[in-house]
Amino acid sequence: MILVTGGAGFIGANFILDWLAGEDSNDGEAILNLDLLTYAGNLETLASLRNDPRHVFVQGDICDRALVDRLLASYRPRAIVHFAAESHVDRSIHGPGDFVRTNVEGTFTLLEAARAHHASLDAAEQAAFRFLHISTDEVYGSLGADDPAFAETKAYEPNSPYSASKAASDHLVRAWHHTYGLPVLTTNCSNNYGPRQFPEKLIPLMIVNALAGKPLPVYGDGLNVRDWLYVTDHCAAIREVLARGTPSENYNIGGWNEKTNIDIVRSVCALLDELRPSADGSHARLITHVSDRPGHDRRYAIDARKIERELGWRPAETFDSGIRKTVQWYLDNPQWVTDVQSGAYRDWVAANYGTRRQAA
Ligand code: NAD
Ligand code: TYD
Repeated sequence: MILVTGGAGFIGANFILDWLAGEDSNDGEAILNLDLLTYAGNLETLASLRNDPRHVFVQGDICDRALVDRLLASYRPRAIVHFAAESHVDRSIHGPGDFVRTNVEGTFTLLEAARAHHASLDAAEQAAFRFLHISTDEVYGSLGADDPAFAETKAYEPNSPYSASKAASDHLVRAWHHTYGLPVLTTNCSNNYGPRQFPEKLIPLMIVNALAGKPLPVYGDGLNVRDWLYVTDHCAAIREVLARGTPSENYNIGGWNEKTNIDIVRSVCALLDELRPSADGSHARLITHVSDRPGHDRRYAIDARKIERELGWRPAETFDSGIRKTVQWYLDNPQWVTDVQSGAYRDWVAANYGTRRQAA
């Protein structure tokens, strides 16, 4: 069995679904899923596993040391894959405290519990044990237009409360290997997109707003660049790192898909024009430039050559194939969207967009 934290969120849920579907012919080993079910966690996403004994769900907090200790002692997982986090930059600007708590204290709590668990294993189990920490490219800071993509050797220069809290957690993970010998691995991935992403992040927000005929809010000039990876490619990379990565190493994961935000939004509009045309004209008419995010990082780009060279991983999807599947998934799953747009979601939309000026 493996312990997955944050498995009711976007990437964690996709990881669990792919894992239990036996992708890469892994044997569908059971998963213990520890998730607090914050606004970002949604068990409906895992409804297909409701009667599957290989998925054990526990609603709980990674900061709860007694709970984590109990789970490790009862289930004795051979690995921990740690996704649980507060993950949205805009929310980190409005309320950084939750980010320090979950991302820093939560990771610290898990590391301490994992260290005690590791010490209780026999020698063969200790050698096989892995703590895989899921991190982000945002810890590396912001690139200029001509800078080389982030390699694993790039110094950390986090700029937002979110990326600073992730950087802090990455440093803790590194130290728990160096000081205590815990067999850790860290992955730093670029922006993910795909099915089941909460509609506060750029791509699902644009799809959901366009379908509702609402404005498509583009921050600033829309020329910030992100490096987009389809979520199942990220999940495949994580499986490779877990199976064959070298403990203590970091692996950058990215899709070689740098795009400006405005290009992303235009691609979404073009697909919706094809798949769900609107009587009012192109969805692109809804694009609205609004005031910028404070401290907005200009460009991220991942140099993924290490994981390609050492583990043979490469993305299977192109941006065109991935974005088409993504838009289609949101068209096919309107009930999922309605369910996640609870009262708490509406409060967030009012807090983040209510005060943004429309740019002239
Ligand atoms: P998400 O916000 O969709 O999901 C986070 C999950 O963690 C939710 O299910 C939530 O309920 C759970 N959670 C939050 N606080 C918790 C706590 N205290 N205890 C237990 N569970 C808690 O995030 P995501 O987009 O799936 O990201 C997963 C991980 O991948 C994060 O660590 C994030 O930093 C990293 N990452 C994300 C991206 C991306 O583009 N989304 C890119 C690179 C790395
Ligand atoms: P986001 O999905 O929040 O990911 P991150 O900030 O972690 O990269 O945002 C992706 C890009 O899209 C980022 O440059 C901010 C921009 N953006 C908008 O222009 N409008 C929006 O409403 C949102 C949510 C993001």
